[in-house]
Amino acid sequence: MSGVRIRVRDVVKRYGAVTVIAGMSLEVESGEFYTLLGPSGCGKTTLLRMIAGFNTIEAGDIHFDETRINDMDPAKRHIGMVFQDYALFPHLTAQQNVEFGLRNQKEERSARTKKAREYLELVQMAAWADRRPDHLSGGQQQRVALARALVTSPGVLLMDEPLSNLDAKLRIEMREAIRDIQRNVGITTVYVTHDQEEAMAVSDRIAVMKDGVIQQVGTPASLYSRPGNTFVAGFFGTNNILPGTLAVEGDTPVLTVAGVATALPPSSVAAGSARAVQVSVRPEHLHVGARDSSGIATLITGRTFLGRDTHYTCRLADSTIVELVLRSDFQSPLKPGSEVGLHIDPRNINVYTQDGTQNLSLGASATAS
Ligand SMILES: Nc1ncnc2c1ncn2[C@@H]1O[C@H](COP(=O)(O)OP(=O)(O)OP(=O)(O)O)[C@@H](O)[C@H]1O
Ligand SMILES: [Mg+2]
Repeated sequence: MSGVRIRVRDVVKRYGAVTVIAGMSLEVESGEFYTLLGPSGCGKTTLLRMIAGFNTIEAGDIHFDETRINDMDPAKRHIGMVFQDYALFPHLTAQQNVEFGLRNQKEERSARTKKAREYLELVQMAAWADRRPDHLSGGQQQRVALARALVTSPGVLLMDEPLSNLDAKLRIEMREAIRDIQRNVGITTVYVTHDQEEAMAVSDRIAVMKDGVIQQVGTPASLYSRPGNTFVAGFFGTNNILPGTLAVEGDTPVLTVAGVATALPPSSVAAGSARAVQVSVRPEHLHVGARDSSGIATLITGRTFLGRDTHYTCRLADSTIVELVLRSDFQSPLKPGSEVGLHIDPRNINVYTQDGTQNLSLGASATAS
């Protein structure tokens, strides 16, 4: 089975007088695992429901391959859906729940039974076929829900926070299962989450949304290394966002943060005259040295031991709080209260315009979808 290609063009969603999505465009390739990621209320579910046909579309178009589906009956869109609450029928067994997905297909009962069994095997639930949902764990119920969504061989799979009711360990297990099954089946998938780590783990590409607007679309690695603006930098993993100034001396850009100058690799940022900027530095890309004029004067204020790594909170002279992650050092750990000099790793930063809307680092992709 190969999945359909989804094209969303300039779609608008209004609830009464309130415009939630003012004109959004995106494309999901056939077989792609595409994730909508963003804070609560940014419009992820709204967009998913427009694709599913449960929301009206006020303007714009949605196509599945060459077919415009704006006004197509949801039942005719050939979509599989999985939601946060698995919504299995409590009085039916796992097997019967999956078979229920096939109720509208004119197949013989025995063919339906066989097919449901195949999909229970796909999600590794065949051994629990005769259990009712109340005798299954949350993760098992979610697997059954996935089998039920896939059993009709839909062209598109839509999932809205399918793992948010599960505990942390099961979430990780299930996200790997979902990813494997999606690859196996090759179905075009639009997945909604507000968990950026989950998004990175499962997605081919991620669209980061804020207030109904796509901020950036990219692979997990490209979004992580080159956020298009400071919102994405702050939302996608942890980033310290610091004010600074940028100057160019000959070929070499020089970044000054908290009074300390750091030479950046030649031609690593868009050339231009000196200007105020913002800089994002991940906690693992700060290095600690002695407190002298070569480093940013920093007070260690807190420490959390997390096994391999230790997380520190730090305060700069102007009271800015900075996060720092170091490999745990059992001999001489940094102590809260100590003063150090912080050094920015010049190869692993991003420099933005002062308003934070544009990444000046060369190699940063455009923010548009
Ligand atoms: N039926 C509705 N009527 C009016 N406003 C709505 C309706 N559904 C959603 N909204 C509003 O639209 C905006 C987007 O909501 P949506 O449910 O799409 O957010 P979300 O990104 O899925 O958030 P969450 O992560 O909390 O699920 C919110 O401001 C919400 O209050
Ligand atoms: Mg939602």
